Amino acid sequence: MTAHAITIRLADPRDAQAIALMSRDLVESGLGWKYDAARVLRAIRDPDTLAPVACERGRIAGFSLMEFGDERAHLVLLAVRPAQRRTGVGRRLVDWLVESARTAGIASLHLELRSGNEAARAFYRAMGFDETIVVPGYYRGRESALRMIRVLRAAGPVPYTWRPRTT
Ligand SMILES: CC(C)(COP(=O)(O)OP(=O)(O)OC[C@H]1O[C@@H](n2cnc3c(N)ncnc32)[C@H](O)[C@@H]1OP(=O)(O)O)[C@@H](O)C(=O)NCCC(=O)NCCS
Repeated sequence: MTAHAITIRLADPRDAQAIALMSRDLVESGLGWKYDAARVLRAIRDPDTLAPVACERGRIAGFSLMEFGDERAHLVLLAVRPAQRRTGVGRRLVDWLVESARTAGIASLHLELRSGNEAARAFYRAMGFDETIVVPGYYRGRESALRMIRVLRAAGPVPYTWRPRTT
């Protein structure tokens, strides 16, 4: 399979269970199950959250959840099924999220991951994220988190001297 066979669409409520199971098995394993179907459903229905899914022949190959604030967006979850990794699915999801964030006027994207998750660390670096700080015990007091950021534009209000283009 190549990423060309993949389509990205927004999750709908019928996807909540599949996404929740992927979160349990691929992201939250060993940490308890926070993103169960009810919580994922709330996220799908939340107007400040985007939940894109990457599908191949109707089946979800990968998913993500990103919460939007005024200037910052928080990439909460992202996972790709093991059999479909390293084919560009994760990149397609991040590209879609970055495009959406730019359109929404977001200044920076933020995320945290288990500090020992070398694959995700390499992935996010390849996606243009920079490492910021390590937060000890972030995951239920057991595991530390690494925070990463991708800056899309300078933060702060648009300067009052700004004028629309006239040409
Ligand atoms: C991290 C994850 C989402 C990457 O998804 P993916 O679809 O395999 O990533 P892509 O194929 O789009 O990779 C894009 C680039 O990222 C980098 N990359 C991805 N996985 C990597 C790995 N295991 N080791 C090193 N670099 C990696 C590479 O530069 C890759 O480009 P290349 O394949 O041309 O070399 C996937 O491994 C995953 O689901 N992991 C478990 C869940 C998780 O850790 N989520 C993140 C924390 S919430």
